[in-house]
Amino acid sequence: MTSIQRKGSLACSRPAFRMETVHIMEIAQILDGRKTAASVRERIRTSVEDLRLSGKPVPGLAVVLVGEDPASKVYVGEKEKACKAVGFNSFLFRLPEGSTEEQILTLVRKLNGDPGVHGILVQLPLPDGIDASAVIEAIDTAKDVDGFHPLNMGRLVMGLKSVQPCTPRGIMYLLKEYGIDPSGKRAVVLGRSNIVGKPVAQMLMSDNATVTICHSRTPGVECYTREADIIISAIGKPMFLTASMVKEGSVVVDVGINRLEEGLVGDVDFAEVREKASWITPVPGGIGPMTIAMLLLNTLELYLESDIMTAQPGQKGGSS
Ligand code: GUN
Repeated sequence: MTSIQRKGSLACSRPAFRMETVHIMEIAQILDGRKTAASVRERIRTSVEDLRLSGKPVPGLAVVLVGEDPASKVYVGEKEKACKAVGFNSFLFRLPEGSTEEQILTLVRKLNGDPGVHGILVQLPLPDGIDASAVIEAIDTAKDVDGFHPLNMGRLVMGLKSVQPCTPRGIMYLLKEYGIDPSGKRAVVLGRSNIVGKPVAQMLMSDNATVTICHSRTPGVECYTREADIIISAIGKPMFLTASMVKEGSVVVDVGINRLEEGLVGDVDFAEVREKASWITPVPGGIGPMTIAMLLLNTLELYLESDIMTAQPGQKGGSS
C-alpha cells in the first residue's frame, strides 16, 4: 500500500493524555497564510529597496526547472513573480526533459560560482533517471536556499544554525504568528518526505513538541491524530483528514495541494474539520503563500551572509 492507511486500522489502545484546557465547541479560527505572507513580503521589499538606495547589489535567486511537469511549472512561475515583486533578481533556467545529470550538475556548478546568485533552487521532482541527491549535494551549502543539502539537513537535526526548508519554516512561522507554541504539545506529522515531513518534525521537536510521524505504513493513523494537539498533514491525499480523526480544539495545518477538476483541495476535509479544530489553515491561502514568503526570506538571509555583505570596505565581494 502506498498511501497512508485509514481503513482496517487498529483499535486505538494508547491511554489518552488529557489536555488541561477545556475547549468550548466553536468553529476554528483561520491561520491566514495569505495575510501573514504578504506582511513578510512587504518587509523584504522594504529591505531590498534600502539596499538598492544605498547602492548595494540586490539579492539574486536562481531557479532551475528541468522538464515539463505542469505543477512544477506553476510553482516556478509563482516563485519568479514573487522574487520580482520584492525587487530580487530572478534567474530562471529551463532545461529540457531529456537533459542529462551532467548537464544539470554543470549548470549548478556555474551558479555556485556566480556572485550575483545568492540562492539556488532546483525544482523537484526531477525527471526519472536523474539522481536528485547528486544534484542537491552539488549545490553550494551557502546558496542552498531550500535547505535540502545533507549538511544543512544534518545541522537542522542537530539544532545548529542552518537554512530551514521553506514549507516547514512557513508552517512554524505561521504557528508563531498566531501565538501557537508547540512546547509540551503532542504533534502528529502525516508524511515523511524530505521536503516537509522530516524537517517539520525536527523543527517541532526543537520547539519542545512530542512528535509522531505517520506515513504510508502506519496502521491506525486516526489513533495518533485523535490524540494530537497539532496535526501537520503533508501526504497529498485529497480530504484525507476528516472530523472523526481529530480531537476537539486541535490545531490543523494542511500542506496538501491537490489539483482536482473542481479546483485546489488540501489533505483536510476543511468544512468538517473546521467544526472541531480551534485553528486551521485553508487551501488555498494557507501554507502555499507561506512557502514562497520563506523562500524570499531564505534568499535574503543567504544574501546577507554572503561575501557581498561580509566583505571589508575596499574589498570586492566575490562568490561564496
Ligand atoms: N517541489 C515541491 N516543493 C518544493 C520545494 O520546496 N523546493 C523544491 N526545490 N522543489 C519542490
